Amino acid sequence: MCGIVGYIGNKTAAPILINGLKKLEYRGYDSAGVAILGNDNLKVLKYKGRLSNLEEKVCELTPEGNIGIGHTRWATHGEPNDLNSHPHMSKSGNIAVVHNGIIENYLEIKEFLESKGYEFISETDSEVVGHLVEYNYKGDLVKAVIDCLNEIEGSYALGVICTDCPDMFVAARKDSPLIVGLGDGENYIASDIPAILEYTRDVYILDDKEIVSLTGDKVTVFNNYGIEIQKDVFKVTWDVASAEKSGYEHFMMKEMCEEPKAVRDTINPRIKDGNIVLDNIKLTDEDVKNIDKIYIVACGTAYHAGVVAKYIIEKTAKIPVEVDVASEFRYRDPLVTDRHLVIIISQSGETLDTLFALRESKKKGARVLSIVNVVGSSISRDSDDVLYTWAGPEIAVASTKAYNTQLAALYLVTLELAKKKGLLETEQYKKAVEELSKISDAIEDVLENKEVIQKFAAQHCNAKSIFFIGRGLDYALSMEGSLKLKEISYIHSEAYAGGELKHGTIALIEEGTLVICPMTQDSLMDKMISNIKEVKARGATVMAIAKESNKHVYKAADVVVTIPDVDSFIAPIVAVTPLQLFAYYMALEKGCDVDKPRNLAKSVTVE
Ligand code: AGP
Repeated sequence: MCGIVGYIGNKTAAPILINGLKKLEYRGYDSAGVAILGNDNLKVLKYKGRLSNLEEKVCELTPEGNIGIGHTRWATHGEPNDLNSHPHMSKSGNIAVVHNGIIENYLEIKEFLESKGYEFISETDSEVVGHLVEYNYKGDLVKAVIDCLNEIEGSYALGVICTDCPDMFVAARKDSPLIVGLGDGENYIASDIPAILEYTRDVYILDDKEIVSLTGDKVTVFNNYGIEIQKDVFKVTWDVASAEKSGYEHFMMKEMCEEPKAVRDTINPRIKDGNIVLDNIKLTDEDVKNIDKIYIVACGTAYHAGVVAKYIIEKTAKIPVEVDVASEFRYRDPLVTDRHLVIIISQSGETLDTLFALRESKKKGARVLSIVNVVGSSISRDSDDVLYTWAGPEIAVASTKAYNTQLAALYLVTLELAKKKGLLETEQYKKAVEELSKISDAIEDVLENKEVIQKFAAQHCNAKSIFFIGRGLDYALSMEGSLKLKEISYIHSEAYAGGELKHGTIALIEEGTLVICPMTQDSLMDKMISNIKEVKARGATVMAIAKESNKHVYKAADVVVTIPDVDSFIAPIVAVTPLQLFAYYMALEKGCDVDKPRNLAKSVTVE
């Protein structure tokens, strides 16, 4: 939910921190701040609003010092203002802390510290950390941080600097991501790899409850008992450009244009001699035959991918599937057992609702397969099996290519489950695998024909409420189309099953109401044409997303956006792209901040 960075080395820390925070602003942008340690004094600059406010002040004040920590915030406890911004100082002003996560027992810690004479100036939970580290500090900063963390319940990624330790600083993580960048005579911490990628490709991906001490020449990792542990170096293979906009106006457009490659990269390495090879997933034929039920658990866009998966798994692998949003699943005491497979879907791999749902599933004995985009993320590390989507960094808050690749991964899993259950004849399997290879080119076609969508958006950007209706896989797709539109254009919309509209909600359709209809399912075409006629009879304007060969739709819809003739089974992976483009152009027409929509952040690491 927030972004943190840290630096120690022989360079001035301030510009490195600011540069790193720029790469993390997508994680939250309500406020930003830095703490710099130089000539034994600790300077803290922190301001409400965008990072540019802080950058301006840093340029003006040029704080000296070669140790520093920085933070860009997505507010949880305490509104966005200067006082609630990070870094937070300890009582003496000798310790500064940046924190990403939530201290769930902060009130009792606060009461304890107040009874010891500590005073609090912010409304945040994070402020307790600096005071508690100071309370525990007896000359060993690592030990003070460990003692502090042993009192804390909740999630954290921390950077801690102290005037007593002018040649080192400490960091730690639990449930919130943190990596260590290993440089030459300098070292870094960051919430995510892009923040330090231009300085080093060698990183440690910290695990939960690990604490790290950094000097310019040495990085030492400890467990929460203070025992030193060895970490493997993870070499980052991304190029720097892949984490930048590469000339596009917005990350979102860049990432939509990356969809063909992202889907290809997710599918192709897993097709060997016409057979699907799901990396090192250890699900045997016996395991699959013993799966009584599959739960799919995720949030937001990832959840919508799960709804698509329900349809295709039940239809192809004949295994009952229950799809749930993680925040509901976790608290409804789900009837999960060791006879169940739980599929967890998450782009960031850090969504706390989803991470805790995963842990709940494992506690109940289920096997967990996660579909994740960020390598080494918390969800990937807690799963029994991981199938990575190779979408590359997704920076725009609105998830696009990650969804397409999640579907691609889910199709691979579905076909493998069906095959292991002996439900797919060789020819059927071969054809299905071949169909997957057509997806990237089909998305390429859609991306080359954006004009119809762009024009429709320009005509209708003042719409106050928009309906997305579909049947079967197209209904699942409508959910994602509706979310995309809402989160970046701030236009209210809702997704509705086409056949359900007449049971009440059609009362809202009136002259000029906008209705978007993905209609890629051949077997449901006539029913969808009827639904279009129903809403048009009440004055609606309809844009349909249909295959090129569908000639009937032109007689029904006002505007038709076509996709290439792919098999209905895989159509959602292609048909979602026009819906993403529609949301993008509507947001542009309304002058919204496409990549950083209001109230949102890219990775929701709070409950
Ligand atoms: C998608 O556009 C949203 N930004 C949001 O719903 C997101 O999908 C959700 O928070 C889940 O994130 P995850 O995939 O990283 O777990």
